[in-house]
Amino acid sequence: MVITSTVTHPDEHRQNIDCTFASRYVREPVPKFKMPESSIPKDAAYQIINDELMLDGKPRLNLASFVTTWMEPECDKLIMASLNKNYVDMDEYPVTTELQNRCVNIIAHLFNAPIGAEETAVGVGTVGSSEAIMLAGLAFKRKWQTKRKLEGKPYDKPNIVTGANVQVCWEKFARYFEVELKEVKLREGYYVMDPLKAVEMVDENTICVAAILGSTLTGEFEDVKLLHELLTKKNKETGFDTPIHVDAASGGFVAPFLYPDLEWDFRLPLVKSINVSGHKYGLVYPGVGWVVWRSKEDLPDDLVFHINYLGSDQPTFTLNFSKGSSQIIAQYYQFIRLGFEGYKNVMENCLENTIVLKKGIEKTGRFNILSKDVGVPLVAFTLKDSSHHTVFEIADHLRKYGWIVPAYTMPADAQHIAVLRVVIREDFSCSLAERLVSDIDKVVKHLDTLPSTVSIKSAHVTASTSEDSEKVKKDVKESHDAITKYWKKLVDGKTVGTC
Ligand SMILES: Cc1ncc(COP(=O)(O)O)c(C=O)c1O
Repeated sequence: MVITSTVTHPDEHRQNIDCTFASRYVREPVPKFKMPESSIPKDAAYQIINDELMLDGKPRLNLASFVTTWMEPECDKLIMASLNKNYVDMDEYPVTTELQNRCVNIIAHLFNAPIGAEETAVGVGTVGSSEAIMLAGLAFKRKWQTKRKLEGKPYDKPNIVTGANVQVCWEKFARYFEVELKEVKLREGYYVMDPLKAVEMVDENTICVAAILGSTLTGEFEDVKLLHELLTKKNKETGFDTPIHVDAASGGFVAPFLYPDLEWDFRLPLVKSINVSGHKYGLVYPGVGWVVWRSKEDLPDDLVFHINYLGSDQPTFTLNFSKGSSQIIAQYYQFIRLGFEGYKNVMENCLENTIVLKKGIEKTGRFNILSKDVGVPLVAFTLKDSSHHTVFEIADHLRKYGWIVPAYTMPADAQHIAVLRVVIREDFSCSLAERLVSDIDKVVKHLDTLPSTVSIKSAHVTASTSEDSEKVKKDVKESHDAITKYWKKLVDGKTVGTC
């Protein structure tokens, strides 16, 4: 006869009878600095983390971000099934590698790369546009340095010409990889790189001019075609060979569907590389970007590493080694699921909702719209009268309704302009647009009832109505400076990031 007895540890016993919220695991402060000595049950760990995360904003109401917040459940299944696949194990996961290559081909064709219908394109999947830009920048730097060395010329002062509206990743690239960023300043009413000024700034040390298809701040497309014309002329006159990179992080998956005749891509011969974020209008959850080169000659061989210890020889050109496969698989899902027709539909819908929102905001009578009709689907707007309250307060008050809308000041020389920006993504419907307008209207009316937070009498800029223009100019400048200081203080305290 076998006699078995089950010994229950007192803690285990309690675990079975305590309800989750009465268990000791949620009664004690959570570890914040040191790894705890002992383990806890999985349901307790889940509950603790899940509950803290409830305090995060709701991603779908986060109108600060271009990044995808909704995908179809079928794609979610593919993502979950591939969470444990390391992308870099190319020999072990050859199909995943093949899907990446197909995505690169599809994107290169979409951007009109000069390749045959069945020719393989040159490009790579990245974590996002930032990594893509680092790789593209490195390729330009290396090509330029090699050429300068061959010519016996100094090669220690490379620069990139951009607009002051570039996303922070360009500043990171410049600092990490020791390239000077020569920024064309903005001005009131003109918030993108002026191609004329950009080309003036090009010199023999310029490794590329970076144009943005869809400025992060206003969604506006920079005029790549005009830049191309001017740069071609300058190259001819000077003997330079300065190329163009297009940062199409958000516009790359918008322009081909909404504005197919707009020439911004490889149709322009000086455009040597383009980056795009798969996780923005590529309609994939965060964690995927792409960079494609015009041809093999534009990606220096010595930047490509060959690894063979995981199996056969595999070329890699990325900053990180390991990374997930899910987002690449999800990107391929979107390409074959939606096709050109589906992407066009999504983008048209985004554009329609942008118009609904824009008209609604205009109808309040309180705002000027800064975003253009052609561009990334977003509405950037500024207060007509900011002498009593600021866009930062509006952003703050909108939080109470659940909306996350960023407010920020423009870069130099338009720092005195502060804007609100609403990004329209696939999952932002017409009814949400209408609700947002109504909540913005409520917020401005509510602010009207509150004492002013801006202690400057002449804050509102109406120089054209004054006869004494010199005095007004001075007033305006002083007001701008004071308001900028005030806004800066606010922004430094609490920023809503824009990406
Ligand atoms: C124009 C532009 N470039 C680059 C980036 C960086 O992209 P990612 O977040 O994919 O790294 C952004 C992000 O918003 C952007 O708007």
